[in-house]
Amino acid sequence: MYLRKITVHNFKNYEDASVSFAEGVNALVGPNGSGKTNLLDAVHYLSLTKSALNSVDSQNVRHGESFFMIKGELVREGKPLTVLVQQPTGQKKVIKVNGAPYDKVSDHIGLLPLVLIAPQDTDLIREGSETRRRFVDGLLSQIDRSYLNTLLQYNHVLKQRNALLKQFAERNTFDGDLLAPYTAKLIQLGEPIHTRRKEWVSQFTPRVLAHYAQLADDQEPVALQYDSPWQTGQMETILGKALEKDRILQRCTVGVHRDDFVFQLGEYPLKKFGSQGQQKSFVIALKLAQYELFQEHFGFPPLLLMDDIFDKLDDGRIQRLMSKVSGSGFGQLLVTDARPERTQAIFQEQALTCQMVHVHQGEIIDQEEV
Ligand SMILES: Nc1ncnc2c1ncn2[C@@H]1O[C@H](COP(=O)(O)OP(=O)(O)OP(=O)(O)O)[C@@H](O)[C@H]1O
Ligand SMILES: [Mg+2]
Repeated sequence: MYLRKITVHNFKNYEDASVSFAEGVNALVGPNGSGKTNLLDAVHYLSLTKSALNSVDSQNVRHGESFFMIKGELVREGKPLTVLVQQPTGQKKVIKVNGAPYDKVSDHIGLLPLVLIAPQDTDLIREGSETRRRFVDGLLSQIDRSYLNTLLQYNHVLKQRNALLKQFAERNTFDGDLLAPYTAKLIQLGEPIHTRRKEWVSQFTPRVLAHYAQLADDQEPVALQYDSPWQTGQMETILGKALEKDRILQRCTVGVHRDDFVFQLGEYPLKKFGSQGQQKSFVIALKLAQYELFQEHFGFPPLLLMDDIFDKLDDGRIQRLMSKVSGSGFGQLLVTDARPERTQAIFQEQALTCQMVHVHQGEIIDQEEV
């Protein structure tokens, strides 16, 4: 699958712009603030119906305007495909594929698989467990609908149980019989989530480690572990023991909503002891493993977007990364860089043909093959 052309209207700093992409490697270059990331974000919209950066849709409309439009012309499994996203401020967004709108926008997810590697991804290492759960849940939801449905139900029951705990505290009462069905439901729904995550970690970890070892040229070992309070068959007892604490805190303190995924550098936490380049390499390895998983699941390579990918990486890592993602098994690639000469030099070194797109103040000023 690849994106042949994108057209944006009133999207962020673009009034009207259109770019044709090569099937292989493309680089968006231009000074800071010119609109490189915004263009990647428009591609993200086409795939995932939302921005990677700003969840408030109205803020993605060009200042002073009332709607934005993004149109993508793609080739998917050999067939042409047109995807149109229209977002009028304050109204429901419309997604059309070859002119036909969806009843439910979420039905679009999975049609155009995409992996984005962006500077904010190091939040996965530095932030709390919620960020990591969101990454894992987002990834699994794209390839497993039943996982998504179970997760939505689990979160719903969790919310109900927490509301009941709060009500008990406010009224200074407690009714174990009223709470019991929620606890049972939480255990019933949590079990398949735990099983899926455990299975995912065991399949995913070797891929991450292999990508990291290649990128880092085997310099330092890393590890990924699933840290979960869940114990199959024991959850009734565990939740029972936690009840006192739950009542005081007015929320459920054990369950898959407390799961974490631990990243290590040698024997130490990557969060505390990893350098910026090591942390960035680790998230790249995570995303490349995600890419591989999507490719296997969908049967074709996803779109790969890499925003400001060269910053913080040493020359060796850049070279190994670029030779990997431009090699066989990979599909279309879109990278951004504020330094065109650096990009050009990297591609020349790899003997790669690349479509360079020069962006300046929300306009595409030049396109050339280098
Ligand atoms: N809704 C909006 N309306 C108008 N302009 C916007 C809107 N949202 C963002 N912008 C502008 O878009 C520009 C940022 O574009 P973008 O993040 O794509 O830059 P970039 O080329 O990736 O720069 P850098 O090299 O610094 O990463 C900023 O000038 C910002 O003010
Ligand atoms: Mg940018």
